[in-house]
Amino acid sequence: MKALNAEQICSIAAEFSTPTWTYNAATIRQRIGQLKAFDTIRFAQKANSNIHILRLMREQGVKVDSVSLGEIERAIAAGFATGADADDIVFTADLLDRATLARVVELDIQVNCGSPQMLEQLGAAHPGHRVWLRINPGFGHGHSQKTNTGGEQSKHGIWHEQLPEALALIEKYQLDLVGLHMHIGSGVDYSHLQDVCAAMVAQVKQSGRDIRAISAGGGLSIPYKVGGEPIDTAHYFHLWDAARQEIAAFLGHPVHLEIEPGRFLVAESGQLIAEVRAKKDVGNNHFVLVDAGFSDLMRPAMYGSYHEISILRADGTPADGALRPTVLAGPLCESGDVFTQAEGGVVEPRLLPSAQIGDWVVFHDTGAYGASMSSNYNTRPLIAEVLIDGDAIRQIRRRQTVAELLALEL
Ligand code: LLP
Repeated sequence: MKALNAEQICSIAAEFSTPTWTYNAATIRQRIGQLKAFDTIRFAQKANSNIHILRLMREQGVKVDSVSLGEIERAIAAGFATGADADDIVFTADLLDRATLARVVELDIQVNCGSPQMLEQLGAAHPGHRVWLRINPGFGHGHSQKTNTGGEQSKHGIWHEQLPEALALIEKYQLDLVGLHMHIGSGVDYSHLQDVCAAMVAQVKQSGRDIRAISAGGGLSIPYKVGGEPIDTAHYFHLWDAARQEIAAFLGHPVHLEIEPGRFLVAESGQLIAEVRAKKDVGNNHFVLVDAGFSDLMRPAMYGSYHEISILRADGTPADGALRPTVLAGPLCESGDVFTQAEGGVVEPRLLPSAQIGDWVVFHDTGAYGASMSSNYNTRPLIAEVLIDGDAIRQIRRRQTVAELLALEL
């Protein structure tokens, strides 16, 4: 959880001002190492698509999953290869807008198809294109209903019963089927994992088609709360490896096994640093207001997500004194701009040390779905991102300016 120490937090806050995202490269490399048993680690870059983070991934042999034209261009800017011989980038989606269709054809980027229309439109534009089939196995699981990507409530993937129709389209357009993919949600537990492995084996056997690879999707959770259990990556690999071996025995040749994590690789590397700027007592609630809002860190407002919070005095010493129930909130003109809340928007005061104006507030485990989900709401510029690698501290995205925002309209 503690990716940075107090000294680093103070010097970053002083040098780059607040709010600022920070990432520790060592934590990312460590997490990559834990998944090395998989043939390919394909980073779901929606979790953190900063070009410098993507470069770090590439240097470690990690490939990427892109979900938009913008993410494809980011991956290319980070040095990932495209073309008929490359598999650095896979584009995963449920539809192909016209601009993206043209670009994946031009660059010969593999496409993970989540709807029959994607197969048709891609096949018509470029027969023979390399495709994956993203299958919705009929069930899903997530840390929130909003992050469950399987079952009847989910728009994602090709419904498992429609596999024959999808294969017929592949036949019709002579598409090159690389493999099958399943991602049933973010925050997958072991029992669902067993089910999804079994569903993958069943789908391959039913398809009657030869494939080269399978993808386990992402969804690995991290312990957001102190004392939470980290995921057992060896067990995770073991389950998928067993599925892969059964498929390989069935097909009569080796099968490549991919995993596609986002959160697991980057969440724990990241901390958001903000400054306490105001305090107020409202009836029974004690509010502490900081200069970061849900326009920066969206997860608590969106899902009721929990992030550990530390408070440091301006000189870096940990805030001491009695703990008191505190509602920690941001600057936005929106009552939901609260970092201590449960799913559904119920304010949940947290026991925190008494804060003083000018203290630093650190939101932990914000390296995934932090900066990448930020917005310009209330015309707030995107904030800076800083990468710490050993002794080196480097700004990897400068703060946006208000002038840049206005320029789009003027
Ligand atoms: N593959 C696909 C096709 C996905 O849709 C996703 C996430 C992943 C991989 C990576 O999932 P991960 O390993 O990070 O759980 N904004 C939410 C998470 C939404 C994830 C959407 N898809 C959050 O902040 O928790």
